[in-house]
Formats: sequence, C-alpha cells, structure tokens
Amino acid sequence: MSRSISTPLLDVRGISRHYDTRAVLHRVSFAIARGEIVSLIGPSGCGKSTLLRVLAGLDRQFDGEVRIDGDLQRGPSARLGVIFQEPRLLPWLDVADNIAFSAGPRRGNDPRVAKLLEEVGLAGTGAALPKQLSGGMAQRVALARGLFGQPDLLLLDEPFSAVDAMTRMRLQALLLELTRAHGTAALIVTHDLDEALYLSDRVLLLNSSAADGTGQLLREIEVDCARPRDRRDARLAALRHELLEGIGATAPLV
Ligand SMILES: Nc1ncnc2c1ncn2[C@@H]1O[C@H](COP(=O)(O)OP(=O)(O)O)[C@@H](O)[C@H]1O
Ligand SMILES: [Mg+2]
Repeated sequence: MSRSISTPLLDVRGISRHYDTRAVLHRVSFAIARGEIVSLIGPSGCGKSTLLRVLAGLDRQFDGEVRIDGDLQRGPSARLGVIFQEPRLLPWLDVADNIAFSAGPRRGNDPRVAKLLEEVGLAGTGAALPKQLSGGMAQRVALARGLFGQPDLLLLDEPFSAVDAMTRMRLQALLLELTRAHGTAALIVTHDLDEALYLSDRVLLLNSSAADGTGQLLREIEVDCARPRDRRDARLAALRHELLEGIGATAPLV
C-alpha cells in the first residue's frame, strides 16, 4: 500500500474476535493519526484488553485488519511499545537491563537508557532491582522500557490503575510529557473517565451493547480542550457528562 500524508499511523478495520464460539469483539474499526492520543473506555469484560493484544500483535486469532503506517501488521513490532497495568519487570535484571531488554538481556549500558531514566524522573536508579522500587517507580520504568525501541505508538492497558491517586496524576502528566517529547501516539485503555478526558484528543467508547456482551465501538468524543489542561475545566465536565450518557450512567464501569 502506498503511504500518503493521509495514511493513518494505526488503521484498525473490522476487528472481530471469538473465544471458541463466544464473540468478544464485533467489527471494531477506528484509526489513530501520528502523535494522536486516544483513550478507549468501556465496561469490564467488553474486550478492551483483547483488542489491545490484537493491536500489539500478541494475538493472531482474529478477523479483520490492523495496519501500521499502511503495512499489514503480522506480529509484535518495534513500532509499538506496550505497557500493562502491572510493570512486568524481570526481577533478576536491574532497572537499566529491564529497560533495554528488547535489545538483549544485558544491554542496560546503552546510552538511550540513561536518557530515558532521566526523562521518567529516575536518573541514577539504573542499578536498582525491581523489588527496591515503589509501584509508581516501577511503572515509570515500564514507560521507559515501552519507549526504548522508539515506537510510533504506545499501547497502554489500564497503566495507572494500580497506583494511588496522587501518583496517578503525576504519571498521567509524565505520559503527556513523554508522548510530546518523543512524538509518540498513544492508545490508552482506562475505566477512568477523568483520566481519559485529561489525556486524550479523542475518547472511543467500546460497549457491550449486544445482548451477548460483544464489544462494539459505540461512539467517539473529541476532547476539544487546549493543553495544558486544567482538570477542573467546565468543558471537561460537560464532556464527562456526555460520556456518562454514552455508557448509560447506571452501568458500572469496572
Ligand atoms: N483467553 C481467553 N479465553 C477465553 N475467554 C477470554 C480470554 N481472554 C478474555 N476472555 C473473555 O473475553 C471477554 C473480554 O475480556 P477482556 O478483553 O479482558 O475485557 P476487558 O479488558 O474489557 O475487561 C471477557 O468475557 C473474558 O472473560
Ligand atoms: Mg482489561
């Protein structure tokens, strides 16, 4: 496929996924532009993590197409960095070796590692072991590892769900700084509406609208607020209301 200025960075077309006979995702389509930050919200079990695994190339059992910069995606790609809810650091490797793991098991002396450690606010901790880190620090390391391969797109699955509220806000601000500095796009799965609205250019609403609970893309909301954003902005509150209506405010999100 020829690339043009209009080729999206990520093009997701008609993704359906079944586990045995059970449908989990039904014809989900959307696109993400270079540098764009998009959140995906939806109730528990509607297929958000399933979709992220498909996009990350970790699951090939699906119908539909995923294209990255026009190229058909056929498995894990250096163009993508993946960050999960838990940091998933290897306990026997120090922080620096964990960050550089995609280059090999003991590559922590790569100069990019020191730069990334500085960027995530952990300068000088490269020799620490994962067990010496707080949850927030470990997730900073996971962000650095996700960026190590200089991806075009970060895929994040509820990345800040396991940390306390203050740490969470700091990590959100850090994610925005990092994506801006690296020109990286991001797709963030979250069940936190405020997080989605604070971080994103657009919010996609995946919902189990079908009677069998199959996840379908219901709607999308553009977050037309300038950055840096004030979390108390009345416009954000209005968009939050719109999202609550979109999910049917009575439906539990977690
Ligand atoms: N490996 C699997 N085998 C069978 N069913 C699965 C598997 N992984 C997830 N599911 C089911 O698929 C549905 C969607 O799961 P998931 O994508 O984890 O949802 P979410 O991340 O939105 O909470 C759930 O009902 C879940 O139980
Ligand atoms: Mg999930």
